[in-house]
Amino acid sequence: MKTLVTNGHIVTATDDYVADIYIEDGIIKAIGSDFTSLYTADQTVDAEGNYVFPGGIDPHTHLDMPFMGTYTCDDFETGTTAALAGGTTTIIDYALQTRGDSMLTALDTWMERAKGKAVIDYGFHMGVTDFTDDTDQEIKALVERGVTSYKTFMAYKGALMLEGESMVGVMNSIKKYGGIMAVHAEDGDTVDRLVAENLEKGNTAPRYHYLSRPSSVEGKAAGEIIDLSYETGCPLYIVHTTCTEVLEHTYKSYLRGQNVLIETCPQYLLLDDSLYEKDGFEAAKWVMSPPLRKKHDQEALWKGLAAGHVQTVGTDHAPFNFVGQKDMGKDSFAKIPNGAPGIQHRLELMYSEGVCKNRITLNQFVDVTSTAAAKIFGLFPQKGTIAVGSDADLVIFDPKGKTTLSVKTHKHNCDYSSYEGWELTGQIIKVLKDGRVACDEGQMKVEKGQGRFLKRSIHRGNN
Ligand code: URP
Ligand code: ZN
Ligand code: ZN
Repeated sequence: MKTLVTNGHIVTATDDYVADIYIEDGIIKAIGSDFTSLYTADQTVDAEGNYVFPGGIDPHTHLDMPFMGTYTCDDFETGTTAALAGGTTTIIDYALQTRGDSMLTALDTWMERAKGKAVIDYGFHMGVTDFTDDTDQEIKALVERGVTSYKTFMAYKGALMLEGESMVGVMNSIKKYGGIMAVHAEDGDTVDRLVAENLEKGNTAPRYHYLSRPSSVEGKAAGEIIDLSYETGCPLYIVHTTCTEVLEHTYKSYLRGQNVLIETCPQYLLLDDSLYEKDGFEAAKWVMSPPLRKKHDQEALWKGLAAGHVQTVGTDHAPFNFVGQKDMGKDSFAKIPNGAPGIQHRLELMYSEGVCKNRITLNQFVDVTSTAAAKIFGLFPQKGTIAVGSDADLVIFDPKGKTTLSVKTHKHNCDYSSYEGWELTGQIIKVLKDGRVACDEGQMKVEKGQGRFLKRSIHRGNN
């Protein structure tokens, strides 16, 4: 299959120019001008007047994940279809070890969940929930299978949380085999104490989830894990960062030569804690961990992105239906499944609210939605850029178009939108996956299972 993309305004994390792109069998073969006279193609995509971005990479998703007594309501088919419609052509999802079971089994389970379903390419981080005599050798084997990043939880005690010595043991092995740790930083003991205190007082409404997880809890955990990263030398990536406290610890760590990497998510940049004041149970839609924060935290995160101190924007897409799932916690906020939908809207939101509002530049937009994740997680330059030899995963984007977000039109398999009615500047016109038009003005042209598992290389920094 030969494809020509003509006259597009190509934007990468570093460049910005008008050119043609010639693609053969899913790989970019040439970039230049006047290609219509040089190459014959099976299909030509006219990109004049539009941006051409590298396909987005979402480094934080949870598809078909068992969690808090239920499963996230997007599986690998619906979730990756929504991602693709929104310009994301690669995800790194979280496989989770079941305590007492091997991480290799967890990888097989997640491979099975994705196989025959995913419509875009995918890799896995491994959630390490147990430290045993086998952990070291399992991490070695996982790195060989292309799973080079490991999530650990400092919260969700009793199920996912890793404590002191176990955390250090895992960090030592990750470092030894060239991996990176992706950490959920919330101090689990403090969270559990505050949850118990609230429930004891009869405070069961969704907003008490928020009040049981103050930003100090996130800051405390971040400070601790940054110290452990310094002591062990294990590379560290802090997922779903929400607040100033974490950034302060990160900035301090620069002074002793650390390079802690930070991820945030659109919800923490754009939604705030006023949503927890909504009447009745509606606030459950935004029950996630960590919770939404204050406007000043949003400002700090945007400034962090602009300064290059926050490297990536993932979605932490963990959708649960409002009816039938979120309402499991009607009588106790502690039983509301944590998480919210968002996999489709990351690029649209970051362009409209980031680039158009002068919070980040166009190059930074590409960096934080694609390139940085490719570099950090061992996918660059196959993914994350537009270059000869890279996969032809491309987003054709009309900067003057308009997009309205709604449960009525989104492709998430979820019964609400976190951004209902938001009107955005910019519109995804086409998404090319492996050089083929896979989404054409919202029409999906995909085959179930066409996505490939990506064997990722070891962590080599973020440059
Ligand atoms: O509330 C959240 N974030 N749910 C998904 C699991 C996690 O901790 O990332
Ligand atoms: Zn988490
Ligand atoms: Zn998550």
